Amino acid sequence: MTDTASQDKFCWEATVLTLYPEMFPGSLGQSLAGRALKSGLWSLETVDIRSFASDKHRSVDDTPSGGGAGMVMRPDVVGAALASVAEQPGPLLYLSPRGRLIDQDFVRGLAAEPGVTLLCGRYEGVDQRVLDAHNIVEVSVGDYVLSGGEPAALVLMDAVVRLLPGVMGNNESSHEESFEEGLLEYPLYTRPANWQGREVPEVLTSGHHDNIRLWRLAQAEEITKARRPDLWARYLKRRNEARGMNRADEE
Ligand code: ADE
Repeated sequence: MTDTASQDKFCWEATVLTLYPEMFPGSLGQSLAGRALKSGLWSLETVDIRSFASDKHRSVDDTPSGGGAGMVMRPDVVGAALASVAEQPGPLLYLSPRGRLIDQDFVRGLAAEPGVTLLCGRYEGVDQRVLDAHNIVEVSVGDYVLSGGEPAALVLMDAVVRLLPGVMGNNESSHEESFEEGLLEYPLYTRPANWQGREVPEVLTSGHHDNIRLWRLAQAEEITKARRPDLWARYLKRRNEARGMNRADEE
């Protein structure tokens, strides 16, 4: 191996198109993601959409065709910004509350790509023609409306970056396990064994690893069933398929 080849390592490339480049890396410059950014496990480039405005007022938005409240981001400006990142690796996504909901499967898929390009909208949104012309996939981080795509882009990149090879050490990786199974996390405890009269469950201090594993699974199942019937139904379906059964209505 040559010196350069041995230095070559995987770097997940994120590109963010935004009217507020100063919002990045924001929280992603700290802690786990921040350390990974500094060590080159991923990179973050921002593109200032306003720099593609061509009129003397540098305007990026206009009133909605057909009337109504708010402003719409102009297709010529956003289109020029998108053209400038056409060579960036990975899918092109538009953060929007009407997009498909992001889940852990989607995040895992993105982590397996060489990178991603994220378009952040402001105001009422982006002119539909530019979304159509670029075949942009719209994604949402939840059924609520944020002030713009930027906080959603930070959430999405955070979820992806922690899955990239080399980012999580042993201390962090176990958090993944229960969600990977499609279940919510079991309850966690640490010392002291008695806090204000509340004990750590006995099984956790028993040293009996099989019992601990079974207790955690039972707790994760109970919590998922009570809080998230949607995840519970999917978990049962997957579990039954894995067992060669066809019933999704067990329990
Ligand atoms: N922009 C505004 N709200 C959003 C949401 N819920 N998800 C993604 N992008 C958004």
